[in-house]
Amino acid sequence: MAGSAERTPIIAGNWKMHKTPLEAEELVRALLPQVAPAGDREVVRCPPFPALAAVVAACRGTRVAVGAQNLHWEREGAFTGEVSAPMLVAVGCRYVIVGHSERRQYCGEDDWLVNRKLKAALAAGLRPILCVGETLAQRELGITEAVCAIQLKSALAGLAAGDLEPLVIAYEPVWAIGTGRTASASDAQEVIAFLRSLLARDYGTALAQQVPILYGGSVKPENIGALMAQADIDGALVGGASLDAASFAAIVNF
Ligand code: PGA
Repeated sequence: MAGSAERTPIIAGNWKMHKTPLEAEELVRALLPQVAPAGDREVVRCPPFPALAAVVAACRGTRVAVGAQNLHWEREGAFTGEVSAPMLVAVGCRYVIVGHSERRQYCGEDDWLVNRKLKAALAAGLRPILCVGETLAQRELGITEAVCAIQLKSALAGLAAGDLEPLVIAYEPVWAIGTGRTASASDAQEVIAFLRSLLARDYGTALAQQVPILYGGSVKPENIGALMAQADIDGALVGGASLDAASFAAIVNF
C-alpha cells in the first residue's frame, strides 16, 4: 500500500473537456454505487466548469469531492472568460488542478502563472493539485529531475511550509498522458521520491511526509496496483479512464 500512514491516498479524475452537465450527472450516478461509501481513500472528480454544479449536487452527502481543472489568479475583475478561486469555492469545489501540462502546452501557462494560480487556490481554501512533469525529449536528455525541480520550485515560490498543508502534487510525465504509455511504477516512484526530497529540503520533513504526491499518465485498472505499491506514490490523477464509471471505480477500489 502506498505512502505512509499519515497520507490518505487520493484518486482524482480529470475529465478534461468532456461531458455536458447532464452527461456528467449520469456518469457520477453510475459511479457512486460502485465506490464504497466509506474507505481509506479520497475520491475527487474534476469536470469542466459548466458541469461543476451538477456534479457537486450529485455528490452531496457522498465521499466524492469535486474539483475544477483551472482557475484565474485574481479574485474578480475584468478578465473575460475566466473563473476565480472564490467562485469555485462558492459552487462547492474543494480541489483545483493547477499547471496541467495541457494548459502549459496549449494555453501558454508558464511557471510564473502557475505560481500565481497556486497562491490564489490556497488563499481561497482550495486544495491545489499541482501538476509537474517532463516531456519525452527532456526525459531522453536525462533532465527529468531538473525539469520537475524547476517546475516545483517556481510553483511554490514565495510560500512557506505553513501555507502548503493543503497541497497535493501530481507527477505527470507529459509523454505518458493520453498515450497509453505509463511510466514504469519504479520510474514514477523514483521521480516522486525525488520531489518529496525537495519538499523535505526546502520546507522540512514534516511537510514532505504529509503532502500527497500522485502519479498521472495513462493510469488504468491494470496498472494502479503496481503504482500504489510504491512507497511514495499516494494515488493517481486519472484522465481517460475516469470517463468510464466502471474503470474509475476499479481504480478507486483496486
Ligand atoms: P490520462 O490523462 O490518464 O488520459 O493519460 C491524465 C491527465 O492528463 O491528468
